[in-house]
Amino acid sequence: MRKILVTNNKGGCGKSTLATNLSAYFANEGNYTALADYDEQRSSLSWLENRPDKFSNILSINGCTDGLKFLPKNVEWLVIDAPARASSKELTYLVNHVDTILVPVMPSPIDMQASSHYISELLSKSKIKNRKTKVALIANRVKENTIIFDELDDYLENYKIPYIATLRETHNYIKSFQKGIGIHEMPPYIAWKDWEQWEPLIEWLDNC
Ligand SMILES: Nc1ncnc2c1ncn2[C@@H]1O[C@H](COP(=O)(O)OP(=O)(O)OP(=O)(O)O)[C@@H](O)[C@H]1O
Ligand SMILES: [Mg+2]
Repeated sequence: MRKILVTNNKGGCGKSTLATNLSAYFANEGNYTALADYDEQRSSLSWLENRPDKFSNILSINGCTDGLKFLPKNVEWLVIDAPARASSKELTYLVNHVDTILVPVMPSPIDMQASSHYISELLSKSKIKNRKTKVALIANRVKENTIIFDELDDYLENYKIPYIATLRETHNYIKSFQKGIGIHEMPPYIAWKDWEQWEPLIEWLDNC
């Protein structure tokens, strides 16, 4: 079973958006997929509650109440949506349960500054230092050709960990979230540009 944690202590950077879209992508590809929500806000769980029956099933796990005790062994992809402001103990617990970590960061000085502290904390965890868990960075809600995007780009390039994708700001993420689906389940004429932006992310996940 592959286990991905989507995390950043900064609120609103796109953790739930990324976690739900990853789950939809894996499920849509025919994989037995589970989505565990460790955030009391229940964003991912409410997305799943809205998921239409005709789309591939995703197993819903309430991490806050049940942890991973109901996780079936034959799940192929587990995606964990972490809360903002997780405690160091909770972060260590989550890091120890996954093989891959994705950190979305938004183009904003406040977000970059908060993310710096968080990424340092993450990289100090022994499972990451020992390279048993891989970490990658994702720029999210990007408006191309803006100075702040260039600054975010430079900021993420400067890390020694991979910077694997740039996701634009688009209403597609908002609309698909409302409908309980992912952007890969939207018609290509609407979401082709987002599919293209996801390609390096999927490729990195497949190869690690
Ligand atoms: N690429 C994007 N384009 C447009 N809107 C986006 C994008 N990514 C996220 N959003 C929107 O930004 C808001 C915050 O996103 P999201 O809830 O995924 O962040 P979060 O990190 O899970 O927040 P929290 O820390 O509160 O759990 C939501 O309204 C979401 O629809
Ligand atoms: Mg969230």
